Amino acid sequence: MSTSPKRKLRSAEWFGRHDRDALVHRSWMKNQGIPHDQFEGKPVIGICNTWSEATPCNAHFRELAEHVRRGVLEAGGFPIEFPVMSLGETLMRPTTMLFRNQCAMDVEESIRANPFDGIVLLMGCDKTTPALLMGAASCDLPTIGVSGGPMLNGKFRGEDIGSGTHVWKFTEMLKTGEMSEGDMIEAESCMSRSAGHCMTMGTASTMASMVEALGMGLPTNAAIPAVDSRRKVLARMAGRRIVKMVDEDLRMSKIATREAFENAIMVNGAIGGSTNAVVHLLAIAGRLGVPLTLDDWDRLGREMPCVVNLMPSGRYLMEDFYYAGGLPVVIREIGDWLHKDAPTVNGRTLWENSKDAVNYNPQVITPVADPFKRQGGIAVLRGNLAPDGAVLKPSAATPALMKHRGRAVVFEDIDDLHRRIDDDALDVTPDDVLVLKNCGPRGYPGFPEVGNFALPAKILKQGVSDMVRISDARMSGTAYGTVVLHTAPEAAAGGPLALVQNGDAIELDVAARRLHLDVSDEELARRRARWKPPAPHARRGWVKLYCQTVQQADKGVDLDFLVGSSGAPVGRESH
Ligand code: FES
Repeated sequence: MSTSPKRKLRSAEWFGRHDRDALVHRSWMKNQGIPHDQFEGKPVIGICNTWSEATPCNAHFRELAEHVRRGVLEAGGFPIEFPVMSLGETLMRPTTMLFRNQCAMDVEESIRANPFDGIVLLMGCDKTTPALLMGAASCDLPTIGVSGGPMLNGKFRGEDIGSGTHVWKFTEMLKTGEMSEGDMIEAESCMSRSAGHCMTMGTASTMASMVEALGMGLPTNAAIPAVDSRRKVLARMAGRRIVKMVDEDLRMSKIATREAFENAIMVNGAIGGSTNAVVHLLAIAGRLGVPLTLDDWDRLGREMPCVVNLMPSGRYLMEDFYYAGGLPVVIREIGDWLHKDAPTVNGRTLWENSKDAVNYNPQVITPVADPFKRQGGIAVLRGNLAPDGAVLKPSAATPALMKHRGRAVVFEDIDDLHRRIDDDALDVTPDDVLVLKNCGPRGYPGFPEVGNFALPAKILKQGVSDMVRISDARMSGTAYGTVVLHTAPEAAAGGPLALVQNGDAIELDVAARRLHLDVSDEELARRRARWKPPAPHARRGWVKLYCQTVQQADKGVDLDFLVGSSGAPVGRESH
């Protein structure tokens, strides 16, 4: 029990005083049936909840919060659940990424303004995880992340199907006539058949793995299915543990160190994680003042084999991953690369948590000596087309296209793409390079997951399943293909991507980390002189603030004035 903390609690500034303001703070809280002894020096734990019916992946979070609450009470803490903006990947337009930083601001200010001593973050659907970590990082209180867990495997006509990954597959099959619309409707019911987030190694599963690899979550946080009773136990144990962390003053900055981020990048390579982790980890590190760059991603992931055989690159799904032993097995497999002494929220090191993990299914988690894919990391490409970098996920790409020269077929923006991509008159061959502009942070706006756009119908009908695609967009973590993403600077910011024209030659050489537009500097200068920035997307509100202050992909796409931390000083009274 932790009813006598060793140091003065932040919450005592609200509840521990003997004056009018403390009366106000306690009295109104008592209308919820809270006994007076809860205010007598117990650590106050904020349970930050992204529950929303509009975020189906997090729709079970009221129940999950209840298990955290029980754990906090068992350990002698005082739980207070609070809502923050929720980001539902499948419904929000134009893209949840436009709102990641807004949610992070909500989290940060909600934590700082309230009487919390420690925080439990409930997160699941893609952007909810980085948003909550970013907001919490800027306050730097003791913090534990609890992920909501993946859905059960999709099951369709006797086959396992994966969220996202099969959406892309089925969409292509509908285009080629291999599937009917009725088949599609049946498949959609079979894909999402339990609570939880996407059960492929998409962005949600990747970020849940990053929470564990950073040391910010309890062991096995990444993979326990949402509906497995052990997910509830994990939530309850997190509730117990956060009370102790307040006693120990084990703040986020003591766990999410440079070494922890390096571990997370290497684990991302080993799990074949989403390219979206690149921008999210850069942004979280930026909040903590940890120096991290795109080059760290390339350097640390370059030699890292992918040992997890999960969709979209492989065959299995998150349920299988958990039954095989989950992330602790991966950490044990690649242990020789990692910073083994990195601390974690449970007070033990990453290695202590993982060294005895048992692999129950070497088909799902392969031995590092005989890996599922030799190259698991993220390749960072540079060249005159991406002076500040672009990324590609080799494990999801077609080996034969990793070195390729082709003729550019250009789409000026997403509307242009939708208008023409399936037009039989489109001048395109399988050897061309499809270029999509104005889908970056400022351009879309919001940096959507459209970089894995489907190939032209006439190409698909030839039986071709992949072409080199280049854009300033992101791609869904559930997607695959030889797709160059996050090209920086983006077209809307005047990056060289804006200058590409139909028929230009483009060279991709992943081994040499090169992305080159074969057009002379003089010609590019002429095109630049004629280039005009796109009209602003908004004259007021969030979108205006976002477009004016958002940083480019190589910096993590945070707003420039949100980078860094302000701690959690207690503000003035309101009365
Ligand atoms: Fe929520 Fe994929 S849609 S995690």
